[in-house]
Amino acid sequence: MKYWKISTLLLLTPFFLQCGGEAKVSSDKLDQRIDSVMMLMNLEEKIGQMNLFTSDWDVTGPTLRENYKEDIVAGKVGAIFNAHTAAYNRELQRIAVEESRLKIPLLFGYDVIHGYKTIFPIPLGEAASWDLEAIERSASVAAAEASAAGLHWTFAPMVDISREPRWGRVMEGAGEDPYLGSMVARARVRGFQGETFENADKVLACVKHFAAYGAPEAGREYNTVDMSDRMFRDVYLPPYKAAVEEGAYTVMTSFNELDGVPASGNSYLLHDILREEWGFKGIVVTDYTSINEMVLHGIVADEKEAGELALQAGVDMDMQGAVYYKYLKQSVEEGKISVTQIDQAVRNILRVKFILGLFDDPYRYFDTEREKQVLFSQANQEAALDMARKSIVLLRNENQTLPLSKELRSLAVIGPLADSQNDLIGAWSGAGNGNDCVSLLKGLQDKAGTAMQIRHARGCDFEGTDRSGFAAALSLARQSDAIVVAIGEKGRMSGEAMSRSDITLPGVQEELVKALVATGKPVVVVLMNGRPLAIPWIAENTPAVLETWFLGTKAGNAIADVLFGDYNPSGKLTMTFPRNVGQIPIYYNHKNTGRPFEPNTTWTSHYMDVPNSPQFPFGWGLSYTTFDYSAIQADQPAFGKSGSVTLRVTVSNTGLRDGEEVVQLYVRDLVGSVTRPVRELKGFKKINLKAGSQEEVTFTLTAADLAFHTRSMAFEAETGYFDVFIGGNSEADQSIRIQLTE
Ligand code: NOJ
Repeated sequence: MKYWKISTLLLLTPFFLQCGGEAKVSSDKLDQRIDSVMMLMNLEEKIGQMNLFTSDWDVTGPTLRENYKEDIVAGKVGAIFNAHTAAYNRELQRIAVEESRLKIPLLFGYDVIHGYKTIFPIPLGEAASWDLEAIERSASVAAAEASAAGLHWTFAPMVDISREPRWGRVMEGAGEDPYLGSMVARARVRGFQGETFENADKVLACVKHFAAYGAPEAGREYNTVDMSDRMFRDVYLPPYKAAVEEGAYTVMTSFNELDGVPASGNSYLLHDILREEWGFKGIVVTDYTSINEMVLHGIVADEKEAGELALQAGVDMDMQGAVYYKYLKQSVEEGKISVTQIDQAVRNILRVKFILGLFDDPYRYFDTEREKQVLFSQANQEAALDMARKSIVLLRNENQTLPLSKELRSLAVIGPLADSQNDLIGAWSGAGNGNDCVSLLKGLQDKAGTAMQIRHARGCDFEGTDRSGFAAALSLARQSDAIVVAIGEKGRMSGEAMSRSDITLPGVQEELVKALVATGKPVVVVLMNGRPLAIPWIAENTPAVLETWFLGTKAGNAIADVLFGDYNPSGKLTMTFPRNVGQIPIYYNHKNTGRPFEPNTTWTSHYMDVPNSPQFPFGWGLSYTTFDYSAIQADQPAFGKSGSVTLRVTVSNTGLRDGEEVVQLYVRDLVGSVTRPVRELKGFKKINLKAGSQEEVTFTLTAADLAFHTRSMAFEAETGYFDVFIGGNSEADQSIRIQLTE
């Protein structure tokens, strides 16, 4: 039967296909349309909507189902992931809407994490821009490309706060801070979803991984998470909440347990917090086979019980686990779960399909012409270049080693990442192709023109002890005016299941850098990595260090722009860089303890072998110019709970170049009903200052900005004194004391 013949069903279903355009999530009309579908569905078809299966492309875990196309015909699939391109998905959709009894359109999802075809910097890198508009634009380009390639749904943003650089997935998030993390989460949701799905150029966002996935014990992927509820709510929960408030239509459960209950069976998370406290109306989907995994967690005896626990907790859709598929009907028949519970989940799923307009036109995302125009367009590449430049962090620059002079006669470009393309798109690079990526070497060659001789030697590999390439690299270095050495991690050394217990540079890379520095030539270290690294020798002994993460399609151009001063770096770290792995967890918003460190005393909190301080603190990043901060002024010394205080600081560009600065405001609550962090970010502004100019920057704080979970777990601000710090990183020393009164 052709899809249009579905109109025969309209007699029974007055609203099934009749309302054009988009509806609001809670509108009555939408509910009626959902009813009109629900009334046609039998139990198997309802359960069918609750299954999400992978196609045979790009799988990121075990593939359980081979016959998913037959399942689509049988109405046993609600959504497909890892299938993309307009033509391919159109065909799968055709099967659903022409060959299944009820012709309910499928939803197509994919991990579009930092770009679909045009690859942007890894999200940890983008966050280092502190540029919310640019981050939103990046997500909206990703949405435009993904939607043109037949996708409705991205499994992003990942908003997991993490203080764990050993954990490979930090590359996918915004770092360690709940305030910045929340702002970035909102920007990404706005970018992916936009205002409307009317033009089929936006995708559903999926907030993940709910919850606290970023705090695995010992940084080992999928490991146990356990923390106080207060810590959970103050530090880890805010970005998920922000993303839900911003209107994200879907939420993904995490693999981990929290306080003894795996997230996919955790009604405290999925029901009490997500649905009740936050009023979430969208789809809760699991992560890959995480319902099945509850058996191994030891919280249920078998998969059937796992499915029951998941449904009761509030999981609407089972990703790839086929637990709902196999057992849910039996569980209903045995009275373990009710049809009402299933109906609730199905309604959540259908609602989103209606909102996307799929019942009006199931093919609306499969325009092959648009796909050709949009994917990897010039404009998208420009946006990727802009984002890449903004994501770079200048960690160190002794004696103005950078920027390099364009008058150099020769430049040696060394290191295992110097000529790599594939690594530079990083993990989770969608349909991106490493061959489309500009390597650092190519970027430098394009920039330098013919007058400068640019020569390349790899020097060593990422791993292993082979030093046989050192000699050639050193000889090249000695013959050159300056050396750029690109080192770090392989593109796939971070990402899912890529935990490391040792976050120093792998292999003999550091040794190579030491040998290069020993030549006495100016050495610029270009780091590429998906996590903070422990690089004490490099951080303290090389003239210049540039953190470039994995910058995506235009990486080489962006780095070359910064190295030669055509772009003045302005990125700031959003995760602390430790001195060594033993300091982890190390983060700027820690508590003071009763024995904070004091030099030359034994009985205070410290290590015998390493300072407490990080190698590079949160918020750190240099510029080719310098900024000076005036003393902070407050418009009043005290303000009441219904009032506000305005803080002012004048920032001057005291150097010779125009530059951008991220002005950061931190607060310390001096006395609380529970102990408070030594500092917490509460505001930031990125400003652009011409050389020699200055700007007054103002921040307004209200009691809401000072709220936390108090001793009674109320979320509120407590009266008392607060120190406010404003500066260019989390160790800023300018401060002023203000008071919050009743
Ligand atoms: C597992 C990952 O944890 C999740 O982030 C991803 O979206 C799914 N696999 C689907 O690929």
